Amino acid sequence: MTAADGETTRSVTDPIPPAPRPLTDLRADGHAAVDWAADYLGRVGELPVLARVKPGEIRAALPASAPDEPEPFADVLRDLDEIILPGITHWQHPRYFAYFATSSSEPAIVAELLAAALNSVSILWRTAPAATELEGVVLDWVAQLLGLPGGWHGHIEDSASTATMAALIAAREATGRDLVLCSEQAHSSVQKGARMTGMRLRKVAVDDRQRMLTDDLSDLDQAAVIVATVGTTASTAVDDIDTVGRLCGRTGTWMHVDAAYAGAAMVCPEFRWAFAGIERADSLVVNAHKWMLTPQDCSLLWSRRPDDLRAAFSLTPEYLRTPDAEDALSISEYGPALGRRFRALKLWAVLRCYGRSGLQQHIRHGVALAQKFEVWVSAEDGWEVAAPRDFSVVCFRHDGSDVHNERLMHAVNETGEIFISHARLNGRLVLRLAIGHPSTTEADIARAWDLLRAQARRL
Ligand SMILES: Cc1ncc(COP(=O)(O)O)c(C=O)c1O
Repeated sequence: MTAADGETTRSVTDPIPPAPRPLTDLRADGHAAVDWAADYLGRVGELPVLARVKPGEIRAALPASAPDEPEPFADVLRDLDEIILPGITHWQHPRYFAYFATSSSEPAIVAELLAAALNSVSILWRTAPAATELEGVVLDWVAQLLGLPGGWHGHIEDSASTATMAALIAAREATGRDLVLCSEQAHSSVQKGARMTGMRLRKVAVDDRQRMLTDDLSDLDQAAVIVATVGTTASTAVDDIDTVGRLCGRTGTWMHVDAAYAGAAMVCPEFRWAFAGIERADSLVVNAHKWMLTPQDCSLLWSRRPDDLRAAFSLTPEYLRTPDAEDALSISEYGPALGRRFRALKLWAVLRCYGRSGLQQHIRHGVALAQKFEVWVSAEDGWEVAAPRDFSVVCFRHDGSDVHNERLMHAVNETGEIFISHARLNGRLVLRLAIGHPSTTEADIARAWDLLRAQARRL
């Protein structure tokens, strides 16, 4: 230590100074933070959805180094308002319609506070018995809610990207092969997973509805894994997992189903057609942090072959050996991470405070709004619905070039009133309106539609 670090010459016989106390009063500051969160959620609809800052602006507004002396938490809250908030793109905004709209709900927000207070770290069952077992329970509950077969092993990963990579690794271990197949419309996390694991990748062509062509699978018998998507990122297309699963049964190929977005919709029986054949999946990922009212991060990975996951990931060094190793499940043996945080708590809170009926209502609300928007677009001259709509995302286009549609998107986003994104389908740029926040109302999608038409006229 240098003198600048505040070190004084001290003998081991000197009394040890007290541990530092931050300038925080958990009750007072905690109440202020909860008030802040409640106020924010009450007024977020009045803020510009897309952050109006330039790259580097937030960084420039912050000190270059940490303070030498403690500062009160009230100063943190003040800077949250003054410096950080202008740099927030508001995913909690009712008119956030980009990518996949996600939401963090009140029970989960409160549960995150408690999870941080407990700071339960699951490296082994004995370091976090309740977190480990609650994770198993909530994954079983969600499996039942989504109509999955009984008896699957489920656990939580940070992201669908990690979950899919874990599936690739388990499939390679189980089959001894190294080829990954997925459709041209599969999420980039599959390609990234193949790249990170050094596996080969082939993209399979899609039909005119963006579904994987199942007659283009002549090399399935050489593949470790095929990733089929239920709800593709661009247009929410649904691959035929029943057919792919049957073919995999013949070739010994692992089928991983990526239902990161659309999986949540399976809580409603009317959408279960999209999961026909799910019992053939070797693994499945659904992001609770997309359409299931749970904040980042909370990605649910199930497998009907947990022994293969364990064979791929279990590695217990001496310091982690415990007498209860074999009869107490340590989730770290089923995936890449060792230390795992208590994510199950927020999902448990969501499941209990919404119940099956609340989750169904949430999904149906989003789908009904998307249906309405789709009807408006298809009834209007000069506009077209650009892909079949199965869930809560509408792909659409205004007459004109890709450049025109891109300009239109930037124009509406710049107003700060809405935030939409785009995709490329059949070689054309399409605009996407993705609905997912429970606070979104018919007035919000009407506002989006008015704005789009006004900007299209102006351009
Ligand atoms: C279908 C699909 N799979 C996977 C992912 C990756 O999800 P994550 O951000 O949890 O890695 C996405 C992201 O939007 C997605 O749309």
